[in-house]
Amino acid sequence: MRRSVVRGTGHYLPERVVENSYFESMLDTTDEWIRSRTGIERRHFAAEGEFTSDLAIAAARQALERAGMVAEDLDAIVVATSTPDLTFPATATIVQAGLGMQRGFAYDIQAVCAGFVFALSNADGLIKSGQADRVLVIGAETFSRIMDWTDRGTCVLFGDGAGAVILEAVEGEGTSDDRGILATDLNSDGNLRELLYVDGGVSRTGTVGFLRMQGNLVFRHAVEKLAATAKRVLDKAGLTPGDIDWLVPHQANLRIIVGTAQKMQLPMDKVVLTVADHGNTSAASIPLALSVADTQGKFKPGDVVVTEAIGGGMSWGSVVLRW
Ligand code: UT7
Repeated sequence: MRRSVVRGTGHYLPERVVENSYFESMLDTTDEWIRSRTGIERRHFAAEGEFTSDLAIAAARQALERAGMVAEDLDAIVVATSTPDLTFPATATIVQAGLGMQRGFAYDIQAVCAGFVFALSNADGLIKSGQADRVLVIGAETFSRIMDWTDRGTCVLFGDGAGAVILEAVEGEGTSDDRGILATDLNSDGNLRELLYVDGGVSRTGTVGFLRMQGNLVFRHAVEKLAATAKRVLDKAGLTPGDIDWLVPHQANLRIIVGTAQKMQLPMDKVVLTVADHGNTSAASIPLALSVADTQGKFKPGDVVVTEAIGGGMSWGSVVLRW
């Protein structure tokens, strides 16, 4: 069976770091509230003139270097983003040109904070079906561009950044001992779209709009749905929570991450955490966390890594892979 094995990771964070205290002068909020309710301490914001594709290209370059590859080695680029440079073309094509890649194909996937999980699953499908041997999968966002800076319930939560992973086809035995992606689990429920959405868009308003969220309702769905999707993906792979070496969750809120780990009976020393330094970077949060943990040398060949995310749509899902 063809398996999609991780060959390299990379990430990029914009230079500007904004501490929680920055919001104290703008809004009725405190560092203490943000820290205790979310676990967020700081986040990065892209500079004026710095776009989602710029972040994505920087992350991709690092992933290529670590994989010992050049852009021409790639067959496809999949970018997960809800904050594209332009309405069209796909940000992935801007990345493709930016990397100097003359062949293959590139497109975006939009599943908001679950975007990277959807993109990984999609890239795995490209590899399994033989449409591609090497796929660059990126999560890249500039959520600072869709913040309502007067809404303390949202604007303190999000940040900008990008992460990238290169997948390569490898022949496996078809068992859970194989390296690479072992199973994926994707879900959406459009009836829940009003819990988290952007109030502008091409067809409805002709504007970009601002992010709107009923945070406490999203919170409740998150813990329950994330633990359930993680259990399903492990079942599909023939594994149990006890087999997990690393959980790399979407980094929205430390309390959601802790609640999900508890439901999965997973000790926190097996959970990769970047939420304090990055805030919620939507589709970029998982590849950022993967790359940061990889840089720290956390993952050993053969480790079982589970990722899970939930966001607007609502859309949620998980991927289990063997490093
Ligand atoms: O990545 C996509 C998925 N998104 C998420 O996973 C986010 C999920 N939700 C959350 O992380 C949390 O719900 C929040 C961090 C957004 C909010 O935390 P919460 O504990 O659910 O608070 P809440 O919304 O129930 O609000 C509690 C209080 C409210 O005041 P009152 O009505 O009790 O007087 C809010 O107005 O906290 C207030 N509040 C704030 N206070 C100070 C909301 N935001 C702030 C703030 N500073 N920044």
